[in-house]
Amino acid sequence: MSELELADLHKSFGSLKVLRGVTLSVHKGEVLSIIGASGSGKSTLLRCVNLLETPESGRMEFFGQSLDFADVACGRTRESDKERLRTKIGMVFQSFNLWPHLTVLENVIEAPVHVTGMPKDEAIDTAEKLLAKVGLSEKRNAWPSTLSGGQQQRVAIARALAMQPRIMLFDEVTSALDPEMVGEVLDLMKQLAEEGMTMLVVTHEMGFARHVSHRTAFFHKGEIAEIGPSRSVLGSPQNPETQQFLNRVLNHI
Ligand SMILES: Nc1ncnc2c1ncn2[C@@H]1O[C@H](COP(=O)(O)OP(=O)(O)OP(=O)(O)O)[C@@H](O)[C@H]1O
Ligand SMILES: [Mg+2]
Repeated sequence: MSELELADLHKSFGSLKVLRGVTLSVHKGEVLSIIGASGSGKSTLLRCVNLLETPESGRMEFFGQSLDFADVACGRTRESDKERLRTKIGMVFQSFNLWPHLTVLENVIEAPVHVTGMPKDEAIDTAEKLLAKVGLSEKRNAWPSTLSGGQQQRVAIARALAMQPRIMLFDEVTSALDPEMVGEVLDLMKQLAEEGMTMLVVTHEMGFARHVSHRTAFFHKGEIAEIGPSRSVLGSPQNPETQQFLNRVLNHI
């Protein structure tokens, strides 16, 4: 069963067409990786799913709610409908974007308390469980600036999970990390995948794409040029553009 369906998304910035008719479905419990060259539109796609950008046209179905982007673009969609969708979508970025003036625990309880009105005690209880899950219980009262990059990114993941999302979007979440911290974040993402979290993951980590994600989509110039089981797309790509991209990437390792 599809958790998220995107149909024929088009997005331009001025005269630059960034998404040229993207159709994609993500099944419940599925991990789908998106790979592709810089500028091919991967982040824009995630930002459209999270309604941080509005495509000119296309549709999205997400846990029973459907959204016509042409309506959103014309302001015909209620803010409350958009907000309801957004609260069910967790997003983690390359730059961790933690609130610097809040402690680790306060970062994690902020949205549940202030966006969904969860009682503070309950939010703290949930946050403590999540911090234990990401291995950072002892940092609950620390300021974000005192944490390593890998730790900050794990807090960012805990913060997104605190809203009990139906899907998690990850945009190059290990790209800004020192190499020795990449593993701890990828391990956490692998653990989430094993627990059945639905995940849409933009990544340069070919090992993660191949071994953790069920399917991989190769993005080329705003279109999905190839999609299929990760082992096929990464092991025996059919599209010449995918082949060239993988040759370039793998030869740099
Ligand atoms: N807000 C914006 N205004 C204008 N152009 C933008 C905007 N956001 C993205 N673009 C352009 O859209 C294109 C796609 O950008 P996007 O960030 O989606 O690529 P990407 O595949 O995520 O690349 P990377 O691998 O470098 O992160 C790029 O040419 C970018 O410059
Ligand atoms: Mg990007």
